[in-house]
Parts: sequence; structure tokens; C-alpha cells
Amino acid sequence: MTRVASGEPPAPLPAPLPADYKSRLRRRLLAWYGRSARDLPWRRTRDPYRVWVSEVMLQQTQVDTVRPYFERFVEAFPTVADLAAADEEHVLRLWEGLGYYRRARSLHAAAKQVVAEHGGRMPREVAGLMTLPGIGRYTAGAVVSIAYDRPAPILEANTIRLLTRLVAYDGEPTSAAGQRRLWALAEELLPHKGAARFNQALMELGALVCKPAEPLCGECPLEPLCRARAEGSIGRLGATTKKLRFTDTREAAVVVRRGPSVLVRRCGEGERWAGLWDFPRFAIDAEGPLFAAKELAGKVLQQTGVRCEPGALITTLKHGVTRFRITLDCYEAAAAGGRVRKPARWVRPSELADLPLSVTGRKLSKLIL
Ligand code: ADE
Repeated sequence: MTRVASGEPPAPLPAPLPADYKSRLRRRLLAWYGRSARDLPWRRTRDPYRVWVSEVMLQQTQVDTVRPYFERFVEAFPTVADLAAADEEHVLRLWEGLGYYRRARSLHAAAKQVVAEHGGRMPREVAGLMTLPGIGRYTAGAVVSIAYDRPAPILEANTIRLLTRLVAYDGEPTSAAGQRRLWALAEELLPHKGAARFNQALMELGALVCKPAEPLCGECPLEPLCRARAEGSIGRLGATTKKLRFTDTREAAVVVRRGPSVLVRRCGEGERWAGLWDFPRFAIDAEGPLFAAKELAGKVLQQTGVRCEPGALITTLKHGVTRFRITLDCYEAAAAGGRVRKPARWVRPSELADLPLSVTGRKLSKLIL
């Protein structure tokens, strides 16, 4: 990494930060945001419910992926009361494909709590919001600052990276000490007025300019204020979080048919896709129809109460979920007795359109239709 300034090392940033440093930073950041902010659907509203929905969707998910999901979701459930009154299956159906389905179930539970305990009005304080399921300090800060324009700091992936570089924080940003340092910095930099624009501008700069790999320092309005840039440590700081180690697993899904119906089951609490529906599905040791038949029949019986005779391999799907790289063998089978047990049931393939399915469940349902 090359040093930008040669000769003398840059002077350390004083703590607390001088008032003129903070005002330069705010001015430069907000001017840049005025020129560069993307037009995103959740930026056209100050409705705390919509801000909340968008922030929950944006956790662990890219802006471009979230956009159509957000629009469909708030069209289906325009208010917190509409969401509270909805069926969980309808909520999950609209979340289908976004992943991390626990977010959707918590959002739904929190909407019910807002209606039951707050008369349908979102709390206006960070502490009040944090009593709701799925709302942590970040989401609460985002709602209070963006919807109510009140000074609450935020810290999420984009701003963690940006602030780490800004002050050249040398520790591990996700450690307890790192979090204390960065939350304190987010709070220190926040203006008393205009927190909504300021926080969104910080996130936007992190997302568009202060990128994990190859940040665009030449375009950054904060370049003259950035300590990592002055030290030449941009590449080392905030580059990537720990490398994910993948675990390969082999699973099987079985499309059991009985006349015109197919067998599906609702995934239970503690399962990877809790609340979603899927074909009987499990980890499997054997590979190929000849070897797997006995294992498949035994596991379908165990999961659903239905006896079956497994047949051909329909397809093999590959997909990734968190740290798992899953190879999913999809088999056909004919029902051969037994008695279906909840949470499994027989459905017509056309009914699958209304059930929330896992992504591979949806692919498989399209293949068999
Ligand atoms: N990431 C998290 N929250 C965001 C927001 N409000 N706008 C853009 N990216 C974000």
C-alpha cells in the first residue's frame, strides 16, 4: 500500500474531534449526497413503518434485490395494522427469495405488538423500538433518525467500514471494544439537526464509494479528512470481514404423489426454513436412485407418516444458504400407504402458488407443474 503523503506521518486525530473537523465533514458529506443519492423507494417517505420495513429488508441484502420486494410488500400491507392483521403465510410468501426468513416473522410479530400495545403507532424512541421483536440498536436508530429526523446514531456494515477507515481504527471493528468505539464515533459525528439526511448519506457513501474492495478514494468527499487514506492503510482496514468457510452438504427432496396431489410439509420452529413449506427434505448419505431408495422412504415416513416408493431422480439443484453449499437431489415417489401427519399435508400442485416455499421448493414446484 502506497503512502499518499510522503515524509512526516499524519498527526493523530484528536479526541474529541474538533468542531471544525466535524463541520467540514458534515458539509462535504451532505453536498456529495445532494449530488449522488440514489432515488430509492423508501427514500420517498417519512412513514416510520415503511422506513422500518426497508431497513429490515436491507439487513444482509443488497439494495437492488430489496427494491421490488419492498414495493410489493408495502403495497400488500400499506400500514402496520394491515401487516399485523395478515396471515403469516401471506407475509412469508411476499418475503420468499429474500432469505433470512426470521426477519419476516419478527417483523410480523412486532407489527402485532405495535397494534396491541401502542395503539398501532410506532414508538418514537430508540428504547421503545428496541422492545419490539427483531429491532436492535441499528434498526431503532435508523427509524428514529430517518423517519422522525431526530439525532440517533446508526452503525451497519457500510458505516462500520467507512468509520473504521475515517479514523484508521486498528482493532477488530466487530469486537466489543470496536463496537463501542464506532458507535461513539457515529454519535459524535451526528449533527443535532438533519440526522435523517446525515445517516443516509453516510450509508450511501459507504455503499457507493467507500467499498470493501477498491474503494473510489479519488471520488470521495471525505478524502482530505480520512486518516486511513493519509496513512495508506485503506486496503488493510475495512477490506473484508472474516472469510466464510463453506461446508458442503448433500440433501434430498422427494415429490411424493398420490393421484393428483403432492405431499408438502411446513417447516417447524428451529428448522432452517421455519414457517415456510417444502417437499419432504432431509440430509442424505446415499447417492442415486438405486442406492437412495430405502433411505428416502424411511426419512419420508419419519417426517410425514406417509409410506412411499421412490422412483427416478428429477433433477439436482445446487444452492447456498449462509455457510452451507447444498447439493439437493430431487426424487419422484409414489405414495404407498401410511397416514399423513401434521405439519405435512396433501395439496394440488396449483395450490403451491399461494404457499410460501423455500427457493429450491419453488424451483421444484415449477418443474413438476
Ligand atoms: N443499507 C441499510 N440501510 C440503507 C438505506 N436506508 N439506504 C441504502 N442502503 C442501506
